[in-house]
Amino acid sequence: MPEKPEKAIVARDLRRIYRSSKGVFRKKHEIVEAVKGISFEVEFGELFGLLGPNGAGKTTTIKMLTTLLTPTSGTGKVLGFDVAKDVIDIRRRIGIIFGGERGLYYRVSGRENLRYFADLYGVPVSKRDKRITDLLDLVGLSDRADTKVEGYSRGMKQRLHIAKGLINDPDVIFMDEPTIGLDPEAARETRAMIKGLVDKGKTILLTTHYMFEADELCSRIAVISNGKIVALDSPSELKKFVKDITVIEVEAFGLANTDLDVLRRQADVTNVSAELEGERQIVRIQTPRGSEFIPTVTKLLSRAKIVDIRTKEPTLEDAYLKLVA
Ligand SMILES: Nc1ncnc2c1ncn2[C@@H]1O[C@H](COP(=O)(O)OP(=O)(O)O)[C@@H](O)[C@H]1O
Ligand SMILES: [Mg+2]
Repeated sequence: MPEKPEKAIVARDLRRIYRSSKGVFRKKHEIVEAVKGISFEVEFGELFGLLGPNGAGKTTTIKMLTTLLTPTSGTGKVLGFDVAKDVIDIRRRIGIIFGGERGLYYRVSGRENLRYFADLYGVPVSKRDKRITDLLDLVGLSDRADTKVEGYSRGMKQRLHIAKGLINDPDVIFMDEPTIGLDPEAARETRAMIKGLVDKGKTILLTTHYMFEADELCSRIAVISNGKIVALDSPSELKKFVKDITVIEVEAFGLANTDLDVLRRQADVTNVSAELEGERQIVRIQTPRGSEFIPTVTKLLSRAKIVDIRTKEPTLEDAYLKLVA
């Protein structure tokens, strides 16, 4: 073990290039620079988040730090060990939890799955069964522990994934989109469990593309866009980044993309985002001009039927939209 490291995780100018070939006859080699020099440090006991849209480079970063992928350049350290050289030392001490359905055996029970992984990770037999019972308890699966995994709900499978990731009693846990594909109730349970792990003193690095999740869970967030960190701070500091802007929220029917383009072209508009809720459309417009800009918006959108228009406090999501724009 290296001298007591100061930080649980250190990423120093991490970079990763993928080379892939396309086409059968005339091979075209494509080079994708997925991670373009990322640096950050995670304290012991911290829950640190990598937040970014799909394709930003979150999974690639996590894979490099968990030794599943070699960095093209730069260095990564976990518990003082080097991700490129000390693969076994790192794997023994970390837990890796990916979202999704794979990586469990459906024909056997949850407890049998955990026994298998405990043996795989070399958990001493004397400790094994007690640890499994404790983990099943921790993730709330005790009463279904001895039934087949194929009958588990999506949320139960994800909780079993988490128990599996903790089987070697790791100090540092990596979670890649841990709530992806879960229904709101199961996602809430999962977040509560993640908080419980931090309370127990674990260090966690997680990725998410949900702003509210990063806001709720993380002490610090690195916002990643296009392979680079564009901001790194606490959720409240990131929100200050948008303190000078107001958000005007419009609820309407019958808006077209061209209406949004017209808004985006206004000099006083820094960002426009829209979502559909059934027939109803919600448009969020960022502007430094506050409520005095409302009449302009009403005029620009006169083609559509506006149900409601109001100013809102900017959220972490607005900061994020401004950052990754
Ligand atoms: N195995 C691969 N080969 C080629 N390109 C890849 C591969 N994996 C990911 N990429 C590309 O690298 C970029 C970052 O991907 P990824 O790290 O999965 O992002 P995220 O997890 O933030 O969605 C994307 O442009 C993606 O298409
Ligand atoms: Mg990903």
